[in-house]
Amino acid sequence: MAICFLFQPPLKPINIPPSSTKRAPIFRCKASFSTTITTEPEPQPVFTFVKSFAPATVANFGPGFDFLGAAVDGLGDFVSVSLDSSVRPGHVSISEISGSSKLSSNPLFNCAGIAAIAVLKMLHIRSFGISLKLEKGLPLGSGLGSSAASAAAAAVAVNELFGAKLGADQLILAGLESEAKVSGYHADNIAPAVMGGFVLIKSYEPLELKPLVFPSNQELFFILVSPDFEAPTKKMRAALPAEIGMPHHVWNCSQAGALVASVLEGDVAGLGKALSSDKIVEPKRAPLIPGMEGVKKAAIEAGAFGCTISGAGPTAVAVIDNEEKGKEIGEKMVEAFLKEGNLRSVAMVKRLDRVGARLVDSCPR
Ligand code: HSE
Repeated sequence: MAICFLFQPPLKPINIPPSSTKRAPIFRCKASFSTTITTEPEPQPVFTFVKSFAPATVANFGPGFDFLGAAVDGLGDFVSVSLDSSVRPGHVSISEISGSSKLSSNPLFNCAGIAAIAVLKMLHIRSFGISLKLEKGLPLGSGLGSSAASAAAAAVAVNELFGAKLGADQLILAGLESEAKVSGYHADNIAPAVMGGFVLIKSYEPLELKPLVFPSNQELFFILVSPDFEAPTKKMRAALPAEIGMPHHVWNCSQAGALVASVLEGDVAGLGKALSSDKIVEPKRAPLIPGMEGVKKAAIEAGAFGCTISGAGPTAVAVIDNEEKGKEIGEKMVEAFLKEGNLRSVAMVKRLDRVGARLVDSCPR
C-alpha cells in the first residue's frame, strides 16, 4: 500500500465464515488490460446485498519479487455492497469505512472503490448504483497486502451481486487497477487474495497465473511480526536497483526455482532456505527497516526455517512447521525488533488460506 500512515492497532483475531460460494479455480488466464465500452447485455443483480471477505497476503518470499505470493488464513478485510437507488447508475458510493480513519471515502481514491468500479465496468452495469461498506481488518502499509485485500473483497462482492459472471482472472485484473494506482503494478498480493493459496505470476502481459498447490497433508505456519513503523510500498520499490548483474540474476533465479519446488513438494525447510536467500531486493530494503537484519538473524537462531521481508515491509515473515515453535520464534523476533531497531511489534502465527476471497453473507433479490 503506497499511502502509508501511522501504525495501526495490533491485529485482532477474527472469525471468518467459510466460503459459501466457491468459484471454479482458474489455472491460467489471458486477458486484455483495457476496459472497452460495448453494447453487451447487462447482467441483472441476483442479490440486494452481499458481504465478502478477502485474506491478507505475503508477497515475494525473498527471490519471488513481484511473481509469488500466498494468502494468509484468519486475517483480512470485509466489504459489503448493496443495490442503492440513491447512487447514480453505474457508480459506487462508499457509505462507511471502519477499522481505519486514514482512507478516502472517494471511491476513485480508495482501493475497494477502484476495484468495485472496475468490476462494474467489466460487467457493463448501466442501470444500478451500489453503496459499499469497507471493514478494514488489516493495518495499512504493513506488508500484508492491505490494499489488495480491500480490492479483492470489493471485486468479489460486486461480481457476486450480479451473479458471479466474471472469473478470477478478471477479478484480479480489476484489483490490479487498484494496486497500480496505490502502490505499483504488481499482482503478487491481489492474485493470492482472490484465489487463495500460493500463486505464481508467470506473465503480466498477458496476465498468466499458476496456482501452486502446497500439499494439504503438510503443516506450514507463517510467523508474521509487524513493527510500529511505516514502509510505503512506493518508497520501498524506489529503493530497488533498475538493473542487476548476471551473478545475482543466476543466483536469484536458482533460488526462485527452489522456492517453487519447495512449495509444490510441501518442503517447509526448503521453502525457508529459499525465501531467506534473496540477494537483490531484501539487501536494499532491509536497511530501511530498523532492526530487520537482527530480526531475521533472531528468527533463524530460534529455529525458523527462514525469514525475509513480507511484501515491501515492514512486517517480517518467517516459516516453520509447528505452531508452538512458531510462537516461540515470534517472541524472539519481537524482542529483536525492540533491541535492534527500537521498535515495538506484534507477532502472529498463521496458516495458509487456501480459499481466497469469498462471499460470507448475502440477501437474495
Ligand atoms: N512485490 C511487491 C513489492 C509487494 O515487494 O514491492 C508489495 O506488497
